[in-house]
Amino acid sequence: MSRSPLIARTVPTLRRAVDNLRKRKATIALVPTMGALHDGHVSLVRLARRRASRVVVSIFVNPTQFAPTEDFGAYPRTWKADLAKLAAEDVDIVWHPGAEAMYPGGFATRIVPEGPALAGLEDRFRPHFFGGVATVVGKLLTQCRPDVAIFGEKDFQQLRVVAQMARDLDLGVKVIGSRTVRERDGLAMSSRNVYLSPQQRQTATTLYRAMKESAGRIRAGEAVAAAMARGAAMIAAAGFELDYFEVRHAATLVPVTSGNDGPLRILVAAKLGTTRLIDNIAV
Ligand code: PAF
Repeated sequence: MSRSPLIARTVPTLRRAVDNLRKRKATIALVPTMGALHDGHVSLVRLARRRASRVVVSIFVNPTQFAPTEDFGAYPRTWKADLAKLAAEDVDIVWHPGAEAMYPGGFATRIVPEGPALAGLEDRFRPHFFGGVATVVGKLLTQCRPDVAIFGEKDFQQLRVVAQMARDLDLGVKVIGSRTVRERDGLAMSSRNVYLSPQQRQTATTLYRAMKESAGRIRAGEAVAAAMARGAAMIAAAGFELDYFEVRHAATLVPVTSGNDGPLRILVAAKLGTTRLIDNIAV
């Protein structure tokens, strides 16, 4: 039988709960989320459970990582269903601060990440994004002080930014990436998939197929530029508006020109109507 996690809504409550676990010699894993939990999040929680004796999941739709034109207001909020999923996974603490607990009046500090945050991928199209992510993740990590923190590889640049920040700021946490969970037809699970119409949902699988096609060609020795052009053309032909379809060095995210410059990662972001999807795979 699953038991209800402790729900913390203020920093002192969270700290007390974490301190109590620490007194009992627990190791702690944090899984930061914005809620609207799906099987991808569940797999993060399961990895957290394997890496530490206690699991904290944060649910906070972070306003500072959305531009005014983006979907902060419409972002799916499914608190009751989220809590049921976390209880079923035996999560120990759910950290669910309100905006006032996270950004109290007078809040005036922002972390400005560089390095992978300036790789020319998401940052080119969402220049506000990584500052907001780094600031909130910096806060989540110092509020909870976990031993490990788990992030999905689906947000690959975000994973690199957070790992770099944790190193640079000596946060004392090991940042671990977790494999992307896909629907049976290859679409990466995402809280934003609910925005897709049935027709768009079918089209959306093109992203994964295009990445696999280009990755296969690169592995077979085709020139990187030609292999990537082929994938980009597939995505455009399916009706997407493409932001980027690029192959980068998987660790540094710097551009590469040859299949021998690996390990390589193909990363894509594209809009289908008003829904923006991102994904990536190893070559
Ligand atoms: O990936 C997400 O869900 C968010 O960007 C994160 C890491 C929880 C920060 O708000």
